[in-house]
Formats: sequence, C-alpha cells, structure tokens
Amino acid sequence: MRVLVVGGGGREHALIKKIKRSSKVDYIACCPGNGGISYDAECFSVSATDVEGVVALAKKINADLVVVAPDDPLVLGMVDALEAEGFKTFGPKAAAAIIEGSKVFSKNLMLKYNIPTAEYKVFDNPAEVIAYIREKNEYPTVIKADGLALGKGVIIPETLEEAEAGVREIMEDKVFGESGSRVVVEEFLTGPEVSVLAFTDGKCVKPMVSSMDHKRALDGDKGLNTGGMGTVSPNPYYTDEIAAECMKKIFIPTIDAMNKEGRTFKGCLYFGLMITPKGPKVIEYNCRFGDPETQVVLPRLKTDIVDIFEAINNETLSELEIEWDDNACTCVIMASGGYPKSYPKGIEINGLTDGQLDGVTVYHAGTAIKDGKLVTSGGRVLGVTALGNDVADALKKSYAAVDKISFEGAHFRKDIGKRALEALKNNC
Ligand code: AMP
Ligand code: GLY
Repeated sequence: MRVLVVGGGGREHALIKKIKRSSKVDYIACCPGNGGISYDAECFSVSATDVEGVVALAKKINADLVVVAPDDPLVLGMVDALEAEGFKTFGPKAAAAIIEGSKVFSKNLMLKYNIPTAEYKVFDNPAEVIAYIREKNEYPTVIKADGLALGKGVIIPETLEEAEAGVREIMEDKVFGESGSRVVVEEFLTGPEVSVLAFTDGKCVKPMVSSMDHKRALDGDKGLNTGGMGTVSPNPYYTDEIAAECMKKIFIPTIDAMNKEGRTFKGCLYFGLMITPKGPKVIEYNCRFGDPETQVVLPRLKTDIVDIFEAINNETLSELEIEWDDNACTCVIMASGGYPKSYPKGIEINGLTDGQLDGVTVYHAGTAIKDGKLVTSGGRVLGVTALGNDVADALKKSYAAVDKISFEGAHFRKDIGKRALEALKNNC
C-alpha cells in the first residue's frame, strides 16, 4: 500500500513510524512533513490546509490511503474532498469534525444528550458576556472561543478585569479571527485531567490506552498554555472503574449522539476529560489524534495500525481485537527558547544521528534539514520518547536522552510525569 499522511508535527511522525511497521505498507509520503520525518517518509511541500493541493498530491503518488491528522484540514472538509475523488481515508468528514470545530456545537450536543460536562452559556455579544460574569461573580471562570484557535482559545480569568481583557481580545480584537465571534462561558471544574483517544467506525468505539498531557510551559504547571510540553501513558487517574464509567456515560453516548445528528464520526475521537469530585466530565472533544498524546499512545499499540484504519473504513471495527503493551511510555518535549511566544528558527540541533538516538524514539515536531544539518523550525522541536517497565523507568530513559541532545535556547519541563508518579505513590 502507498500511504499519504497529511500534517507535519510530532503526532504525524509517530503515526508514520507506526504505519511504517505495517506489513501492508511499502511507501509513505507526508505533506508537508519536516526534517526528521524525511528520514521515514517522502515529504512534499504541500500545506496541510491546502485541500486541492493534497487531493492533487494523492493522485500524483497514487495513494491507497490518506491519513488526515490535523484539526484544520478535517474541519475544512479535506476527507470529504478526498473521498469524492475515490480515495480511502482516515479521519472524520467535516460534518463530524465540527465536534472540535465548534465549542458551541459540542456543548449543545452534550446538553442535548445528557453527556457530563461543565455548565455553560453561549454569547455573541461582548457586553452580555461581561454582564453575565459580573452578575455570577464566581472566579475562576472559563471563557472559550467557539472555533479553532491553535489550542489557545481558552482563558481562565481570576477577576472581572481579567475577564474583560480576555473578552476584548477574543471578541473585539479578534486575536483568533472569526473563531471568537461567539464564546462559551463555563463553570470552572477541578480534578485531574485525562486524555483518551478512541478509534470509532461510527458503530463501535474502542478507546486506546490513556495518557496525561502537560499543557503549561513551565514546571509546576506554571506559565502560558502550550500545545503540550510532555505526556505519559498510562494515566494513573484513569482507573478501570473510571474507564467503565466513561464508556457508559461519555464514549458510547457521544458516538450515538453524533449518529442521531446525522454526523457519524469515523476516525480518532479525542476525549479531554476531567475527573471531578462528581465523576468524569468532558472538557473538550478533538476530532483527531492528540499531540503529544499520540507520541506515547501509539508506541504501546501492538496491532497493525493499517488493519485498524481499514476496519474503520469497512465499519468492521467491532470484529478487530486491538492489543496494547502493558509497559509505560513517556515523551518530553524539547521546545525553542521563547515558545509559546516568539522564538528563533534555524538553530542547529546536536546529539542526534539521522534524527535519532539509541534507546529512545525522537519524534520530530519542528525540525528542518538545512545544508545537510538538522535545525529547529518550530516552537515544539522534538518529542523524546521512551518505553519502560513503568512510568518512572520510561521517564528515566526520556530524560537521560534529553541530556544528550542540545540546541541553543532549548527549553523543556523537568517535571513531566511528576504528578503521575505522585498519584501512583498515593494510589490516586
Ligand atoms: P481546552 O482547549 O478546552 O482543552 O482547554 C485548555 C485547558 O483549559 C484544559 O486542558 C483545562 O486545563 C482548562 N480548562 C478548560 N475548560 C475548563 C473548565 N471548565 N474548568 C477548568 N479548567 C478548564
Ligand atoms: N494535546 C492536546 C491536543 O492535542 O489538543
């Protein structure tokens, strides 16, 4: 089979390394890919949001399967466009990708189908948002831009002044463009967060092993929100009891709800959950694999991933047994100095041979090859990933490898997995 993967970050690199292990695959292309990905796939400089360009590329390389990984092309309808041309794909159509593309849609869906989530109200007028927050007078509160906002469309103001400033930025200055025309104001929930990615063909849902993201830039969950600074799998807060409750109250009801709305979801559905004192609740849905969750989940997958993609296409997922390794996996992100604000690019990366290092897998998020040298080209640069007997063992390997890799200004969190280890020690 000839497979095209759309996207160019660490998640796509993890997908490609897994697809490469499939006995069915003999050629992998990626667009746009990146420097590190080019060791594993032929990269083409077509943007991941260029729907026509990707369709043309799929034709040019005779793709047997196109995996669309990022949110924006899915929301734009890239899968619809590819399927209209007869290509087999992995990823939801636009009608289903709206579950991530519009927070108003997903919140209304959860309300209508009784899926546990934070209480909320929708607004399209900034003055009304502020009047509501002033009257409620409960802080912190949570304000979310309706549309896609590069993972940055959520603010959690502690005061009325902060709320006013945030609403101005999102709804008036439109820092996220039209994504901020409407906002959701919701109740602030507390509890540990769990990411669960799930395969679904619209008929059945098969959750993958759980993981924990670390979204803030600095140690101790301080600093700005990022795309994710590291992940561990499994997530110790996701006990068998919680998993069973999520299946019954969240996963199956969501798949059913999407079917009832005429928006059957096929692909990977990401459940961002919070385990609150009142049970698990949905913080967000994503219509795709998480980044950097994929980097710690897929290394634990034993089943051929292409068999899973085909079963989803054929709507026979219920017949396929998906197997996972019992070991743990950890990923420490090495980012450019300054990220998630502005950062330099083109800085040489030392310590890797052909983009890799013995004993770990280095997933490339933002690298390029310039004059034969591996250089930085993005905010998140590398995801240094290790498998181990348990989370502590895997972390030791990830951090030992991070110490051997260097580039000027490199920034990484030193406490990835700390909360998971504490939870394990305290038995959650
Ligand atoms: P999201 O982009 O929706 O995942 O939100 C980003 C982060 O904001 C989440 O990972 C949570 O840590 C936090 N967050 C979002 N919604 C809530 C909420 N209702 N209560 C508390 N924290 C939240
Ligand atoms: N790591 C969070 C996300 O992929 O949205």
